[in-house]
Amino acid sequence: MLALTVVPLSAGSAAVSDVPDPVPGDGQLLVEGVTLGVCGTDREIIAGEYGWAPPGRDRLVLGHESLGRVRSAPAGCGFAAGDLVVGIVRRPDPRPCPACAHGEFDMCRNGEYTERGIKELDGYGSELWTVEPGYAVKLDPGLAETGVLLEPTAVVAKAWDQVERVGSRSYFAPQRVLVTGAGPIGLLAALLGVQRGLDVHVLNRTSGGPKARAAAALGATYHSDPVADVAQRLRPDVVIEATGAASVVFDAIAGSGAYGVVCLTGVSSAGRTISVDVGQANRSMVLENDVVVGSVNANPRHYTAAARALAAADPSWLASLITRRVPLRRFAEALEARPDDIKVVLTLAA
Ligand code: BGC
Repeated sequence: MLALTVVPLSAGSAAVSDVPDPVPGDGQLLVEGVTLGVCGTDREIIAGEYGWAPPGRDRLVLGHESLGRVRSAPAGCGFAAGDLVVGIVRRPDPRPCPACAHGEFDMCRNGEYTERGIKELDGYGSELWTVEPGYAVKLDPGLAETGVLLEPTAVVAKAWDQVERVGSRSYFAPQRVLVTGAGPIGLLAALLGVQRGLDVHVLNRTSGGPKARAAAALGATYHSDPVADVAQRLRPDVVIEATGAASVVFDAIAGSGAYGVVCLTGVSSAGRTISVDVGQANRSMVLENDVVVGSVNANPRHYTAAARALAAADPSWLASLITRRVPLRRFAEALEARPDDIKVVLTLAA
């Protein structure tokens, strides 16, 4: 079968090559890959900046935003041939730490977790893959075209879960949310905000184009003026930050409303410094009881919430987020950043 593999920390090593078909281990599902989403983390791994190969190997099969169809499943495991499934990304650390021992491996304390397609476990970027039923999520058959959005939706379902848990430490009835960034994470965070009945605002550098149209189609208000101005005007109860851009992060923190919860989801590159008035930021956070919370990955609870959110969403809106479908062999085209891209996916089925 064909697989997209890479030598982690070696730029330019990504290649599609023939590798042996996977053999399902005891109790595992054998899945035919349908589509694979490409995200910033994959680009970082391909650029040689991130990623870990499985122990004793040079190459890692890339890909963590999966969608596949079960080819074979052990009897009584809850899955059957033909089911549409997505594989969960992370596995608990082997010790395990207290969070992993409680099934909350997205909150791993010792960093020894593993991740399919990212950290020490082969990913889902192949024509066939295997997965343990406990780490597979069954999708509504209506999501055959767009179910590949489940993993990023699980990431934002976790972000919303964090916001609500942090907010509920006292009276909390948020009304307005500002989402900074209108990539897939930002737009899916906006979808979950709309599904919660909130007044949703989306901010992005560019005006017009498919991102603005996707935000408007949700009923959200789109802004492309500076984040400091937008946040000062809106004083949002919640900010979901999805750019990872240092200046956006600080202006969003400074501009949140009283008792504001700012959830950071964007992984930024280190090494870029900006000048900030920490005294002012501290003062307003203390005087307003603000919280800034970081959020990464997702556990099965978030995947279940995300599957419900996708099933409830307008199918044509979800489809509008997938702006290009590129065959696996031409993966290099999928990596090109084009101005009108939202989510680019690789097609895995022959
Ligand atoms: C993935 C997460 C993962 C994180 C860090 C993200 O792109 O969506 O599941 O935990 O990268 O490796």
